[in-house]
Amino acid sequence: MAVNVALRGVSRRYPGLIALDKVDLEVAPGEAVVLTGPSGSGKSTVLHVTGGMDRPDEGSVEIDGKELLPRDLDGHRRRIGFVFQRFHLLPALTVLDNVLAPVLPRRVDFDRRERGMELLEAVGLGGRADALPAELSGGQQQRVAVARALINRPGLLLADEPTGNLDSVIGREIIDLLMSLREQYGMTMIIATHDPEVAANGDRVVRLQDGRITSNQRITASADVLDRLGGLRP
Ligand SMILES: Nc1ncnc2c1ncn2[C@@H]1O[C@H](COP(=O)(O)OP(=O)(O)O)[C@@H](O)[C@H]1O
Ligand SMILES: [Mg+2]
Repeated sequence: MAVNVALRGVSRRYPGLIALDKVDLEVAPGEAVVLTGPSGSGKSTVLHVTGGMDRPDEGSVEIDGKELLPRDLDGHRRRIGFVFQRFHLLPALTVLDNVLAPVLPRRVDFDRRERGMELLEAVGLGGRADALPAELSGGQQQRVAVARALINRPGLLLADEPTGNLDSVIGREIIDLLMSLREQYGMTMIIATHDPEVAANGDRVVRLQDGRITSNQRITASADVLDRLGGLRP
């Protein structure tokens, strides 16, 4: 189920540098927020703090109104999906085993293979389960990474420059895929990107500069809305 995310007064400091400076950001269940801003503005730090891979020095992160505490971090990480710029697939494992990698060492209450195959179908790679990553194109490898991110049915998907290693046509396909999976599986999404095409497809664009939010704008003419109105794409 899609979750509500709130960053409240989140600061993250490094020696001589403020990566995030009292950031307040609320994301509604099912909303797709795109984080933009120059390199070094704090986009990845927002994702890491939200995903429990990094801790704020000040302020808090709330998931469905409940503050994320250190003892909850392991469970929290399991309930979110993460997609990276570099696909980070394990080269010796098949596509299906890459999708299953997060749950291979754990007891789970679902049939791993069945879920992995369902997700490969959902990303359009149902026929490539036994391939090795090196046999796939970059766009296909990112699709595998997306399927892997969904293996625990996360209510929140975080994506850090998911199109950064792809050409614009393939990048566009990945964004369309993420947006449709969001509806299919019911997820909140936060996507960090430099890509204006990605930004145009979110529900809201949040711009960061020097660790602060400098604008927070709802996209009224998102591609999704245009599609429903008859398929006029900008
Ligand atoms: N582990 C770290 N140690 C020191 N500085 C860091 C570390 N991680 C990030 N930073 C700094 O924090 C700032 C924000 O980084 P980041 O969130 O990665 O920005 P973005 O993703 O927008 O490029 C940058 O100035 C970066 O150099
Ligand atoms: Mg970054």
